[in-house]
Amino acid sequence: MFRFKNYILVIVVAAMLLTACGNKAPASEKASCAPNCKYTDMTFCYPQLGAESDWRTANTASFKETAGELGIRLIFSDAQQKQENQISAMRSCIQQEVDVIGLPPVVEDGWEAVLTEAKNAGIPVIIVDRSVSASPDLYAAHIGSDMKLEGERAAEEFNKHFPNGAKVLELSGTTGSGAAVGRAEGFRAKLNPNIEIIDSQTGNFTRAEALPVMQAFLQKYKPGVDFQGIFIHNDDMGIGAIEALKAAGVKPGDLFIVSVDGTRGGFQAMVDGWFQADVECNPLLGPQVYEMALKLMNGEPIEREVLTNETVYYPDNAAELLPTRKY
Ligand code: AHR
Repeated sequence: MFRFKNYILVIVVAAMLLTACGNKAPASEKASCAPNCKYTDMTFCYPQLGAESDWRTANTASFKETAGELGIRLIFSDAQQKQENQISAMRSCIQQEVDVIGLPPVVEDGWEAVLTEAKNAGIPVIIVDRSVSASPDLYAAHIGSDMKLEGERAAEEFNKHFPNGAKVLELSGTTGSGAAVGRAEGFRAKLNPNIEIIDSQTGNFTRAEALPVMQAFLQKYKPGVDFQGIFIHNDDMGIGAIEALKAAGVKPGDLFIVSVDGTRGGFQAMVDGWFQADVECNPLLGPQVYEMALKLMNGEPIEREVLTNETVYYPDNAAELLPTRKY
């Protein structure tokens, strides 16, 4: 009996040692300077997903400029829209023992392994902008837009404009990204049954890729006859699409076009009569994310899901608002 108890004890101790080895630092989310950490104590890692749009450029600027103003040491990288690049940038930040990581995930799936590595290293991760499908236990919080609501808002514009129904096209964002998935889902959830989405193709959130997609649509469908409107998942793709429409002889106002973002380019497209509404998606997330990162370093409570308060912009005051736009 005595021997059996000893045997159990050895197994328990061995299991505890094994767990400790696979989990080097305890997953504490407090820095050594807590509870008095200041921004100047912070090393923040931002493995940006790319530079695909004006929205993204503004998001990068928001993180860089705010870090400069607050005295934060920022480790920034550009993954060129490739998840594997974001994962290696995160691993390098984990090795450098940064205080907090902000991750704007290019796609929703496939983050479990690297998020677990960050958690085991005691480095909190704030998911920024788009969402991930990984378990919320693996990250500290998410700060970004409600992408589904954006899609719903776009659908409401079509419902108002086409009470008797219509056929529409969808120019979608990066396949598998939280932004494209959410917007597509919200759009379908709210669109009236008499409005039919006749085709949907991705333009990967870029002008360059949207242009040939729109050209291909125009080869297949006659504007005004086969379709009356287009839902476009961001302003950059909208601008690419306008080029194709112009080249095909379509005039501003011939089609009902709703885009997302509210960039200066989007506002200009409203002024020029191409977009009939632009659903806001705000990229200026730097100050909020850093504020939360500091709270995490100090071990203060945080909100786990922070959704940006956004609106819809219309052509009637676009010219007046354009000079005030920050991105
Ligand atoms: O995730 C936000 C989206 O990504 C923006 O709508 C788009 O412009 C960007 O590329």
